Amino acid sequence: MTRPGSLLYRAELVGARVLLPVLGSLGFFKFPRTVRLESTANCNADCVTCTRQVMTRKKGVMDFALYKKVVDECASYKVSSIHLHNFGEPFIDKGIFDKIRYARDKGIDTRLFSNISLLDREKAVELVESGLTRIKVSIDGDSKETFNVIRKGLDFDRVVENINTLIEVRKELGSKTPEIGLVFVETERNSHEREGFLKRWKGRVDSIDISSYHNWGGSLHEGERGDKRALPCLRVWQTFTVLWNGEVSICCMDYDGKVILGNVKKESVYDIFHGEKLRRIRRRHLKGDFAKPKICLRCEARR
Ligand SMILES: C[S@@+](CC[C@H](N)C(=O)[O-])C[C@H]1O[C@@H](n2cnc3c(N)ncnc32)[C@H](O)[C@@H]1O
Ligand code: SF4
Ligand code: SF4
Repeated sequence: MTRPGSLLYRAELVGARVLLPVLGSLGFFKFPRTVRLESTANCNADCVTCTRQVMTRKKGVMDFALYKKVVDECASYKVSSIHLHNFGEPFIDKGIFDKIRYARDKGIDTRLFSNISLLDREKAVELVESGLTRIKVSIDGDSKETFNVIRKGLDFDRVVENINTLIEVRKELGSKTPEIGLVFVETERNSHEREGFLKRWKGRVDSIDISSYHNWGGSLHEGERGDKRALPCLRVWQTFTVLWNGEVSICCMDYDGKVILGNVKKESVYDIFHGEKLRRIRRRHLKGDFAKPKICLRCEARR
């Protein structure tokens, strides 16, 4: 990451401030590139890295009719893929396989993150047959001791077994999908297991991501970036996050739905994406003003 104040950083800043409005006027940001639909906000875990423990908003499952409305609009704008997770565990949603099939039948790829604890053999078969494009399994440890402390409420052996079952089932059914990836959010609690984790899984899955821990928009801790960095955040030009109840939050960092841009029950994705609330946020980001919404100020996902 370039250092604020350096020449390269300043060049990036000027480039972003000039380019983004030009690209916008050329129609580059007509529709969000990444649409995230929170199939459910319910979860069977309490991971120590996650803000679910401090979430105050109501939790539930996205209604199928609402899901279809958004997916139909995405299909009409030729969105290539959608994400079916946000805060919660997608396999708690009993309608998840129907949701995946519906999007697939509209020609849209589906991707999701999961803790995989609920995916037994029967569900693994249904998942492969549903046509899911990609699953990323979150597994932040390489031993029962470390995993069970971080991914509270889940069981390491069960998770390893379910990943192996999914790999087997995909092979048995002769399917190339879903692409299976693993995610390891590195912290001081698990970094000593990073190498063992890579060794265990390398060659067995399609991808392994070692990802950085972040502060969920300043919620877990203040973070070090503060307002020193002034690059606009591309998420407000490219992404769209629909919570289970239809409300649209500023981005996937807004776990509690504090910055609501609209509701897809009443408005279209297009109208919310081009609405005044989001346009005002984009203008502020272009000026390097992250004081409002507050969530952007201390966000570690901002470059
Ligand atoms: C919020 S979860 C939702 C999907 C699903 N329940 C799961 O755990 O994969 C999405 C991803 O965020 C990751 N995550 C949770 N807390 C994090 C943090 N503080 N920093 C970075 N990633 C985090 C999880 O490990 C998971 O890979
Ligand atoms: S990281 Fe995923 S599994 Fe863990 S508490 Fe958060 S939503 Fe649930
Ligand atoms: S700065 Fe952070 S909170 Fe704000 S839009 Fe970007 S990712 Fe979301």
